[in-house]
Amino acid sequence: MQPTRHTLTAPIHYSVDPIFVEDLMGLPWHVPIAEWHLHGVRILEIKRGVSRHVVIFVKTPRFSYCIKEIGLEVSKKEVSNYEMLLLNGIHTLVPVGTVSREEAVIESGAPIGTRYERTVTAHTVTLLVEKVLPDSELFQRNFSFVSRKAIWDAIAELFVELHTNGILWGDASLANTLVKFEKIDVPFVGKKTFLKAYLADAETVEVFPTLSAAQRESEIRYFFGSMDSLNEDLRISGLQRDALTTENDKQYFRSRYDLLFTAEEKKKLFFRQTTFNIDAVLGLVSNPAYVDMFLEHIEEHKWYLCERTGTQVTLAEATQNWFTAIYAPLCKLFRTEGVLECFPGKTAAELYIEIMTHKYFLSTQAGTDVGMVQAMNDYADTFGAVANTQSFMKKITDTMKSLIGFTPARRGQ
Ligand SMILES: Nc1ncnc2c1ncn2[C@@H]1O[C@H](COP(=O)(O)OP(=O)(O)O)[C@@H](O)[C@H]1O
Ligand SMILES: [Mg+2]
Repeated sequence: MQPTRHTLTAPIHYSVDPIFVEDLMGLPWHVPIAEWHLHGVRILEIKRGVSRHVVIFVKTPRFSYCIKEIGLEVSKKEVSNYEMLLLNGIHTLVPVGTVSREEAVIESGAPIGTRYERTVTAHTVTLLVEKVLPDSELFQRNFSFVSRKAIWDAIAELFVELHTNGILWGDASLANTLVKFEKIDVPFVGKKTFLKAYLADAETVEVFPTLSAAQRESEIRYFFGSMDSLNEDLRISGLQRDALTTENDKQYFRSRYDLLFTAEEKKKLFFRQTTFNIDAVLGLVSNPAYVDMFLEHIEEHKWYLCERTGTQVTLAEATQNWFTAIYAPLCKLFRTEGVLECFPGKTAAELYIEIMTHKYFLSTQAGTDVGMVQAMNDYADTFGAVANTQSFMKKITDTMKSLIGFTPARRGQ
């Protein structure tokens, strides 16, 4: 016989961050969330990915939340996964906690008489992420490949963040990825706008010491599967589009992922050697060749320091010295001298890296090391955008000379 359900009492448990308790207590947790619109709750109609569970977005006086009805154990695991992801610096949802409702179920007709069983309905509560780009745009005709590439870049970056930290998502689909524009602080420049991808839906997340190539590959294939289904949905809804689109997108995504993954591995190795976080200082460096170049650059600086002091200098000391004695003052100067006017769209770090790259290019051509100062002058002549680039570069190179304060014969500066 089917049990008859009666809600006798409905105690509500709030396993949530204390700052949200009062706000959440104002919501009608004693009824299913699917009925909240009948109970005066302000429901937000926001585009969301396909989901298995009932998911609603609500606005309260203080915050807006995403609430998902789910089992208690899974909810607890999901919330702790979000916390772990945030601690690892992964872009993901901010968990508010788990709110659960105890329900009593009367089992009627049992041989030993009526039995009461308790069941629990739980909810994962997260802070709402607003202004998300809907994934349904992705394969539409009027959405250019250039725009899509920016989105694939952001998602590939999220995948690399996860995988280089030994984290397997397990449900890496387009529907579970939120993409939005975000202002991020760039060292020596200030805030710049980037597209960032967020992991939304952390039920299946698992951490390993490291991930095998096969694990990473399966995650990418799963993601490609979700691209196919979105594509198919759009086709069924009558959208006309180029048959090759998805294949091109996949190829692009894979190459971007591989590039970023290699760069990240190199950066991690560099960090182990020097305790220096390249991204934190230079901004996001996505090209692995830049990391190699940067290492060469620091080794050169180490050589110069050893020459000057006549003592042994470690790579870590050389990096530290390079940062405080050369890089930081130069970047400040880039900024005060108006780097953005002379080289529109570039950050100080990008400019530094590009000059460094240019130096290697010139040195290879010349068959000898041309030095930073010559590289700077040549770079300004070739790429500077406005007339005052010359005076800007003169100031920079003069400062560079005084910072280095030494002309190593080998360097030709
Ligand atoms: N905090 C949030 N802010 C904005 N959108 C969200 C948030 N949490 C989830 N979503 C959207 O709701 C969808 C469904 O949530 P999800 O956790 O994936 O449910 P399910 O486990 O049923 O798949 C997600 O794919 C995402 O698009
Ligand atoms: Mg989901």
